[in-house]
This record gives sequence, structure tokens and C-alpha cells, in this order.
Amino acid sequence: MPRTLTEQAFAKPDNPTTQDILHRDGSPVPAVFELEAPRFLGDDDIDFDRYVSREFMEREFRDLWPRVWQWACREEQIPENGDYYVYEIGRKSYIILRDNSGTVRAYVNSCLHRGTKLRSGHRDGTAQELSCPFHGWTWSLEGELVRVPCAWDATHIADRDFRLPEVRVGLWGGFVFINPDGNAPPLEEYIAPLPEHFANFDMAGRFTEIHIEKELFCNWKAAKEAFIENYHTQTTHPELLAAAYDEPTQYDILGPHVSRFLNAFGVSSPHLDRPLSERELLASMLVSDRDNLIDGDSSDSGETARTVMARTLRDALSRKYRTDLSRFADTEVIDVAQYGLFPNMILYPQLTLPVAYRFRPIGQDPDRSLFELVMLRQKPDVGSSPEPAEPFRLKEDDSFALAPGFDKTLAHVFDQDTDNVRAQQEGFYASEKGAQTLLNYQEVRVRYLEQTVDTYLAGRRP
Ligand code: FES
Ligand SMILES: [Fe+2]
Repeated sequence: MPRTLTEQAFAKPDNPTTQDILHRDGSPVPAVFELEAPRFLGDDDIDFDRYVSREFMEREFRDLWPRVWQWACREEQIPENGDYYVYEIGRKSYIILRDNSGTVRAYVNSCLHRGTKLRSGHRDGTAQELSCPFHGWTWSLEGELVRVPCAWDATHIADRDFRLPEVRVGLWGGFVFINPDGNAPPLEEYIAPLPEHFANFDMAGRFTEIHIEKELFCNWKAAKEAFIENYHTQTTHPELLAAAYDEPTQYDILGPHVSRFLNAFGVSSPHLDRPLSERELLASMLVSDRDNLIDGDSSDSGETARTVMARTLRDALSRKYRTDLSRFADTEVIDVAQYGLFPNMILYPQLTLPVAYRFRPIGQDPDRSLFELVMLRQKPDVGSSPEPAEPFRLKEDDSFALAPGFDKTLAHVFDQDTDNVRAQQEGFYASEKGAQTLLNYQEVRVRYLEQTVDTYLAGRRP
């Protein structure tokens, strides 16, 4: 048995590492994919109270959500001046809006007269000004109070500041982030090193091809944590083992709010009794759009399945989305690099699974959360880009296969993932032990998320 803390934390089975696989075929590996940043964060149990307690959730609403940068919408959801999108977290509500000069602003969605939400019911729309539905007080898109019906009776407000309160806005990669905390570090500092890692991927040049929302019976943190380790693949997604190199997945802690895993594809799992041949691998690789995109099989050339797959997909995706993808290395096309941004965002840069996730509590209920998935495809190099997809809402028992245009094989994988979370949330309540015992390496991102929550709840920042 390993003895020291470091040995124990990073004891790994005797298989080629993810880095070995990335370098094996001779395709260049970008520096950010060569980076390894393991970290041991301790091995104490983490109690379940944080997933079920209303008091804990209220602390999150008080000490966490108002102090973090969070993804509110995509810029493509408010393309024109006057377009707005209502973003809600817990009981807080913000109107994200593009003003007359094209600047994106975020207003607190509550009237300065008697508090009514200026926009409710509709999530998005276009406005010349923001007028309250109750008595008609009206603000310009720049936040100036421009009209008060019966102004003769409101002379006392003339001397006071009735600008609509704003919160901070940050833009990166086509995402609009907000942060209600005026003292928080700037967005660039908060999300580092994401911009460096995504420099080759042009996230701003993407459009939302598919947008799925699914209601889950579990705490928002447990929902995110169901996706940030690959340890569950052997049991939850056994069919993936054919071509997913799951157990040697690399886990990195990259910044105060950013972690990652790097999972090579096109190599059989060490859990498989008999590894697939290169030809079998090519036939079985699970990637979204496989059925649409792969027509031939050229695995007789002596190249590995990874090489053939990367080339085939690069060409097929270039044609389908009318964009030149030749700059991407094999690993950027086929492997799964998954980045987590604290608190509730997950982002995949690479071409075959270009998705982003968001996890939010539903209402004030620690047992319910909303999982959103957006598929972000590259906009065409010339010509107009498609309209962003409207969200498609799934109930807890609905399959992802119901979502229009969503790859059926991928839908099955997401169903497997979200089927786990109710059983886990119920198990939190059933437990006598009352705490989870995490693996040191493969589940370090779960611990990192929970430790970062604790840092914010203690009134500090990471
Ligand atoms: S509450 Fe908004 S105008 Fe009265
Ligand atoms: Fe999964």
C-alpha cells in the first residue's frame, strides 16, 4: 500500500497515461493539452447536509450566488439593441439588455416604485424602454427614469437617484456573465486560465444549435458533480468502454475557479477484457453526429482509429458547418476535454462534443435543479449564421431523445447520467453514515467544488 500522502493521492494503475495516448500517434498536441496539474486536496469525508439542508441553501443564496461570476445568457440571445433576456437565480432576477449603443447591461429586475418585476413570464424580448406593468414608471435602455405617470404627485422623487440599479457584466467567448458583487475580481481574473485554454476554439464564433433544459430531482451541486468525474463510466455507461479510455482520465486543478478532465477517445478502456482492434474501434467510437457524418471506413491504411476518426470528423464537420477546421489537432477533434467553471458551469471546447452545461437550483428547494445543455457549433465562415435554438424543456422522466435534433446515442448517455441523480439525492436522506468518501484523484474535482463553496460561505474568496 502507498504510504505517503502524495503516493496515496496519486497512486495510479500501470496503464499508459492520457498523455501517452495523446502523443502516441504523432499528431501535434497543443501546450494546454500537454499541461498536467494534479492536486491533492485532502481525504476527509464530506457530509450530505450541504445537499439537503434548506439552511445550507439559504447560505448559498446569501453568501455565494451574489458574489460569483455566473453565465447569464449568450450574446446571440440579445443580438440587437433593445433585446433583453431575463436571468434568474433563486429569487434574484436580472434583465440582461443591449442598450442603444450596443453595450450589454444587467439591471435588477424590480421596480423602484413598489417593487414589481419589470419583466416576468417572458424570458426574452425586445424593448424600446423598460416600462413597469403596474403603474407605468419607465426607464430608458440606459437606466434613466424617463417617465412617471402623474408626475405632479411625485415631486419628491426629482431630487433622488432613480436610476435602475445595475450589476456587473463581463463578456467572454460569446457568453454574458454577471456578478452582483462590486468588489469581486474582474471576470478575466475569475475565469483564468479558460481564455488561454480556449484560444484556438473561437467560442464567440459559435451558435446555439440545440438547447435542452431538464428538471432534476437533486441538489444543483450533486447534478454538476455527476458530470465532472469519469469514475462512473465503467458502471453507468459500460457501452462507452469500447472506445473511451476512462480510468486513466487526467484531472487538473487549473485556477481558483477552474478544473478540468482530459479523457482520450479511440482507445479501449483498461476495464475491457479484450481491447478492440483499430478497425473495431473506428466502428464503435461514440461521438455525436457519427451517423450523419461518417460514410466510409479507411482503417486499412495502417493508421490508428484515432487518426482516421479525427481526419474524417474534421472534414465532415467542416463541410456540414461550412467552416474551415483544418487548424485543429487530432486531440482537439476527438478527445474529451471538460472544463468546470465555479460555481455551476461546464464547458467542452472540442469539435465532436461542443457543449456547455449550466446547473441552477429550482426555486428554494435543495432537492430540485435545472440542468441546461447547449450545443455550440461553429458559425459558417461566410453567410448568415443560424438563429440560436429555443430551449426544449424535459421533465424529470423524459428522455433526452425527445429533444429535436439531439443525437440518439448521446441522448442515451445523458439519460444514464440523469437517472442516477434521484437515487443519489434520495440516498442522502436514507444514509446513516451521512457523508461521502471520495476517491483522491478521480473525484478531486468534486472535492474542489465543495471546498470552493465552503470558501465563499465563510466569507472568503479562493
Ligand atoms: S410598481 Fe412599478 S410602477 Fe408601480
Ligand atoms: Fe456520465
